[in-house]
Amino acid sequence: MKNIVALAFIFSLLMPNLVYANRQLAMRNGCMSCHADTEMDAPPWRELAIKYKKYRGQAEAASVQGEKLRKGKLFKNIKAHQALSPANATELMQWIIDGAN
Ligand code: HEC
Repeated sequence: MKNIVALAFIFSLLMPNLVYANRQLAMRNGCMSCHADTEMDAPPWRELAIKYKKYRGQAEAASVQGEKLRKGKLFKNIKAHQALSPANATELMQWIIDGAN
């Protein structure tokens, strides 16, 4: 019984971090200096989320799109895009595809 209470407590501490995990990943990778929730130079997250919504439910989409972002094929060279690890690019793309919340 004690263990269950302890587990529930630990879980309640972890939950907010789970929700914001990918937003934090975006912050750590410097995405926020150009992309934001409001209009700046780069397309805001909401706009990207709308654009990438079509990939929802497609298993390979996040890694394929993440790879494109990394390779700089989509646009001009943007260092923050190209510096992403494959795993981080996939995770961030999945975050965007899922609505960038
Ligand atoms: C130096 C500024 C800058 C930083 C930092 C940056 N981006 Fe971008 N990003 C841009 C610009 C500008 C565009 C739009 C390019 C265009 O439309 O030609 C873009 C486009 C994108 C797109 C594709 C939009 C589309 O039209 O399909 C995605 C996805 C994206 N960024 C994700 C990220 C992620 C994730 C990070 C963090 C690793 C990041 N960006 C960091 C400037 C930046």
